[in-house]
Amino acid sequence: KKPAGAPDKSLARPVTKVGVVGAGLMAGQLALLFARRLEVPVVLTDLDQDRLDQGVAYVHGEIDKLHGKGRINSDKASQLKALVSGSLSKDAFADADFVIEAVFEKMSIKKQVFAEVEAVVSPEAVLATNTSSLSVTEMAADLKHPERVVGFHFFNPVAVMPLLEIVRAQHTDDATLATAFATAKTLKKTSVLVKDAPAFVVNRLLTLFMGTVLGAIEEGTDPEVADRAVAPLGLPMNPLLLTQLVGPAVALHVAETLHESFPERFHVSEQLRAVVDAGHTELLNSDLTLKDEVR
Ligand code: CAA
Repeated sequence: KKPAGAPDKSLARPVTKVGVVGAGLMAGQLALLFARRLEVPVVLTDLDQDRLDQGVAYVHGEIDKLHGKGRINSDKASQLKALVSGSLSKDAFADADFVIEAVFEKMSIKKQVFAEVEAVVSPEAVLATNTSSLSVTEMAADLKHPERVVGFHFFNPVAVMPLLEIVRAQHTDDATLATAFATAKTLKKTSVLVKDAPAFVVNRLLTLFMGTVLGAIEEGTDPEVADRAVAPLGLPMNPLLLTQLVGPAVALHVAETLHESFPERFHVSEQLRAVVDAGHTELLNSDLTLKDEVR
């Protein structure tokens, strides 16, 4: 069944090579998914050789895990590893027809990345962003071809979470959107079309939920009690573990973006801000109790 709002699939353009900007955790997960499902070359790029090497090593490690679990045979593992490479230069994207960025969540950086990518790719190449909460329209505003920009928002862990939010920005054309939907289908994700509004749909809900729990903790509720209180909801992960999985900095960024747009509705946890300012990425001990340093 055609997803609601998806243009006719005959408009979709083929994707024969993928570029991934950034070599962090999300980027590595994306590179693996694209290589595995689209079976096309995937090039990762980053500004820093060490991060790039770590990104490619992460992907190769995940391929080994899939092989170890018997999900893919050794030929497939070698084939996938050969598909994923790293390059410090965006020139490696010259013949890519789908480029997705997963860099730091800052508008000026995202805009610069898209300008640099646009300088090397063809005018039809799709430029996708995995942003959690920033405006896709604004990200595309200074480009020569803003019509090829689309939001392609995945959830962590990318390999497991079935949903993909596809964001139509102000200028996104039907061919770009059709390519996004067709690509999502090949990636075996369930795609939903969402408006280009702060934090789209899922992160608004998650931020309200996580913000409410963090607010209760800030007001004195014991974190373990807060976790036990939401356990009957049957969620796969407790809110603090989810904050850790998403990354405290990303969770804070989403909350801040929403607070800016809707100050009455979204509260930013001072405790979360303090945790991020102190550079903590791990919130919980292995027994899922809160680490002393973030209490
Ligand atoms: N990378 C790759 N695979 C992973 C993984 C990871 N980080 N974490 C878990 N998996 C895989 C495991 O390998 C396992 O696969 P197999 O069946 O092939 O062995 C499978 O997922 C299930 O894992 P586990 O059995 O270890 O654990 P689980 O049943 O508790 O599931 C979970 C783990 C899927 C992460 C589950 O806890 C869950 O769904 N949590 C909620 C995640 C969520 O809500 N994510 C959205 C965050 S919001 C976001 O990302 C958007 C944003 O913009 C901030």
